[in-house]
This record gives sequence, C-alpha cells and structure tokens, in this order.
Amino acid sequence: MENKIYLDNAATTCIDKRVLDTMMPYLISNYGNASSLHQFGTSAKEQIAESRSQIAHYLKCEPEEIVFTSSGTEANNFAIKGIAFANRSKGNHIIISSFEHDCVLNTCKWLEGQGFYVTYLPISKDGFVDLDFLKRAINRKTILVSVMHVNNEIGTIQPISEIGKICKEKDVYFHSDACQSFGKIPIDIQNIDLLTINSHKIYGPKGIGALVVKKNTNIVPLLHGGGQEFGMRSSTENIAGIVGFTKAVALCFAEMESENLRIKELQNRLIFYLAENFEGIYFNGDLKMRLPHNINFCISGMEGESIRLLLLLDEMGIAVSSGSACSSNGDNQASHVLQAIGLNQFEARGSIRISFGRYNSEKDITLFIEKLQQVVGKLNPIFS
Ligand SMILES: Cc1ncc(COP(=O)(O)O)c(C=O)c1O
Repeated sequence: MENKIYLDNAATTCIDKRVLDTMMPYLISNYGNASSLHQFGTSAKEQIAESRSQIAHYLKCEPEEIVFTSSGTEANNFAIKGIAFANRSKGNHIIISSFEHDCVLNTCKWLEGQGFYVTYLPISKDGFVDLDFLKRAINRKTILVSVMHVNNEIGTIQPISEIGKICKEKDVYFHSDACQSFGKIPIDIQNIDLLTINSHKIYGPKGIGALVVKKNTNIVPLLHGGGQEFGMRSSTENIAGIVGFTKAVALCFAEMESENLRIKELQNRLIFYLAENFEGIYFNGDLKMRLPHNINFCISGMEGESIRLLLLLDEMGIAVSSGSACSSNGDNQASHVLQAIGLNQFEARGSIRISFGRYNSEKDITLFIEKLQQVVGKLNPIFS
C-alpha cells in the first residue's frame, strides 16, 4: 500500500511505529498471563494496572472504572445489554439516537426482541440530536440513554455533557460511544456513566477497547469466566493490546492540540477546494460543530455514482469511504445516518466521506482534488 493516499482514518488507522515498538516486548518476552503467580504473570498484572491508571488519568476517572474489552463493538454491547439486564426490574425503556453506529442500533434491535422498548431520537438536518425530544421521551420506565459523542459518518459533535445532565436529573444512566472522538478532542465525562473507547481509530492495535463504567453503576457482565477485569469481563487480558492502546492514547493526548490545528487547516482547505471546483456539491453535517478530521459530501446529480467514484479513486491510489466502513458489509444500503438528517434514499446512497489522520498532508489534498476532478469528469462529462 505504499504510495497510496489513505483518507479513511475514521474506518481505522495504521499503527504508529512508536506504539508498535512499545508492544513488541509484550508479544515476545513479557507475554505472561496476568492471572499466573510466577514473575511472567505478576509482571503482566503490574503492567496492566499501570496502563489502566494512565488511561484513567487522561479521562479523569478512577483506574477501577476502566474495563478493557476486545473492541468498541464489545464495549457498546456490554454497556447496553449490561445495563438493560441489570436494571430490568426498574424499567424496560431505552433511548438512543437514530444515527448511532450499527453496533448500538443492532444491539437495541436485538433487545427489542427481548422485551425492551426503544425510542430513537430524531436528528436535525445539521446533524444534532433533539434535546427537547429527549427530555420528553424519558419516562419512569427509562433505564438508559445512549448517544454517541461524534458521528462516524458526518462527524458532528453531540452535546454529551448537556445530555448527561438531563439524564442525571431524571436518574437515568447515560452511555456515550466515543470511538470517533477519544484521543482526538477533549471529552468531559463528569456527567457520563458509561463511555466506549477503542484503540484502532487512534493509531493503536486492533482488537482492544474499553468501557468506562463509573462507580456504583448497576451493570452485569457479558462474559463470564475467570473473573478478570474486576469480574466485569472474563478472558485472559490482551497484554500487548492494552500496552499498545495505552501508548496510542498517551501520544494522542500529548499531540492533540497541535495535531488538531494542523488537521483543521487540512479540513478548511479541502472544503474550500471542493466548494470552488464542484458546482453541485453539498456538505453533510454542520461545518462548525464537527470533528476537524471529517468531511462528508455529495455531488448533486451524481449520488447514484458514489460507489463507482470510490472504486475509480481507489484505482488511482486514493482510499476514501462511501458512508461508514461497516456499511460495506451488507448490500449497498442507503446510509441510515444521512436519512436521519433528512436526505432521501437516493441521496443517502451517494456520499463520500473523507477522514484525515496523522499521516495526511496538504499534498494528499491537492492530489485528491485533482483525481476527483478526473473521476467526476469521466462519470459525468457535465462536471468536467
Ligand atoms: C462510532 C463507532 N462506534 C463503534 C465502532 C466499532 O468499534 P470497533 O471497530 O472497535 O468494534 C466504530 C468503528 O467503526 C465507530 O466508528
């Protein structure tokens, strides 16, 4: 994949070499099982405790509130099913936004078949949850509200502190999926009971994530077994993954401010170039309250061509996304995110998502614009 331009960092990122170097000893020499009593085991146990403390420090929570999981998907399943089944006697009503990631949506769809009732919050055309609707939707049977921090397709930032306050006042648990924001922008978790984070979006290894579970949260585990992770998630700990994740987090927090300025500059430039060069272009999601790393756009009249556009760009060595990475697992369905912000079925099939990362530069943007012009011209001579 050398000489290719990767503009799909919201799907996943490559491992930072500094992260890989930190992980290596834990794959080949310090590979002990943290439950073993010999030195291999105790050393792994100490390292996991150190990693937990470091991540807790960045999130301003207690180390015991971090539960390592295998992914963001697992953490979201754990949060939602864990709260649902632990609090079943209190109520069976869950509220989520209608543009959550599939792993939240499909978990809730599954819970609907188990006797739970789910309310889906509407989204404004700019890409924000309707807080008045939320206030009205909470009732005495409501046990959980789950709203993502940053949407993975359109990058809009949700007011999670405010949502958390509303939930606290109503004595309802609040969970937020922060897979797209953690390590990229600050997160205030004061009013959040459960927070999902993962590693492979921030230059860490795949196969590791965590759920922050605040003290005194009534939750049951998904995985039963040897009682690891304070009995909340049994399974031999992924020591190399945990160490790599921690290093990735430390790097992101150390570099967050300067990196955001750099990425914001790339975003501004690309938005400007796109608006200048493509007449029918429209951007999805508010352009201010959004992650600097994300741009999502459609070209009017070309919505039906987005997959061809993506594949032609790919042939030219440029990787972008049409909707989210997960949407490519099924048939080319219209994006539920774009439909949630009011696009019709046709338009919602036709977006391109650009997501910047640590290794993108201005040169990538210039090249992307050049290639996009060629591809659009090929598909629709009107635009050339
Ligand atoms: C918002 C959001 N939530 C959850 C996930 C799933 O995370 P993982 O790939 O670690 O299972 C993703 C990844 O695509 C995501 O973007």
